[in-house]
Amino acid sequence: MNVSRPDYFSLANKVCVVTGAASGIGRETLLVLGRSGAHVVGLDRNIDTLEETRALADNEGLSVEFYAADVADRDAIMSVADQVLKKNGRVDGWANVAGILRYAFIADITPEHVNELIAVNQLGVLWGLAAAAKVMKSGGSIVSVASAGGEMPFPRLGGYGMTKAAVIQLTRTASVEFGELGIRVNAIAPGYVETPMVAASYSRADGTIDEALKAQFFDARRSQSPLSITGEPLDIALTVLYLMSDASKFMTGQVLRPNGGVYFG
Ligand SMILES: NC(=O)c1ccc[n+]([C@@H]2O[C@H](COP(=O)([O-])OP(=O)(O)OC[C@H]3O[C@@H](n4cnc5c(N)ncnc54)[C@H](O)[C@@H]3O)[C@@H](O)[C@H]2O)c1
Repeated sequence: MNVSRPDYFSLANKVCVVTGAASGIGRETLLVLGRSGAHVVGLDRNIDTLEETRALADNEGLSVEFYAADVADRDAIMSVADQVLKKNGRVDGWANVAGILRYAFIADITPEHVNELIAVNQLGVLWGLAAAAKVMKSGGSIVSVASAGGEMPFPRLGGYGMTKAAVIQLTRTASVEFGELGIRVNAIAPGYVETPMVAASYSRADGTIDEALKAQFFDARRSQSPLSITGEPLDIALTVLYLMSDASKFMTGQVLRPNGGVYFG
């Protein structure tokens, strides 16, 4: 007997935008959404590494297209959204993944430090929400990547944490504003995930990895988790997949925390 079973996480016929698609969590998210049947639009300001993502996607025969843009530039993001809608006729998903990490003690934070963080992590998500709502014509799902650092206090992450806390509050407000459009809005607050972003914390001035410092770093992070683990980009990409798919149709205004149990909300 031929039994057809539902694929609860299928993104077939959906068009999804992923910002920060040139590296780490954004790259993995683009690949996972593509493997799940979506046509995926990758956006990043780093053209060279965006090309590496294109090669990986092409290698798997995924349906993708790419735009070079800065998420902090409202006009540029609105323009990309318009182009994607014009080209594909629909936009169903939008993942705000692009972000930057900068360390400074609160007493040492300069206007340059905090303005850069706000421009990318906070306004970048705000413009992404606005652009997505404008082009989602028959409902959709918006997912923004916040951070455990937006909910837990970490020394030297005052500026970063402030912008990530803002992502969570923006998510809640947008879920209320966009609900009548059939658009769900959720956030993900990941724990520690090995990506080029965090590698800066255990790299030497010449860019090479200090393996002893890296081991120390990961031991410290693992010791905070009941499972004694840190995450990998796939853990977060699969959380995005759930929130993009109809499997999460009852979820909006929420924060999901793939973090190995380091924080419970
Ligand atoms: N890695 C972690 O442990 C961790 C934990 C919690 C949250 N996060 C968040 O996850 C997201 C992805 O981080 P990651 O670890 O993959 O970092 P990453 O540095 O590997 O990737 C970030 C990507 O965003 C892009 N980007 C940065 N600023 C941009 C801008 N203004 N416009 C367009 N693109 C821009 C970069 O070019 C890069 O490709 C970030 O928002 C980060 O804050 C990461």
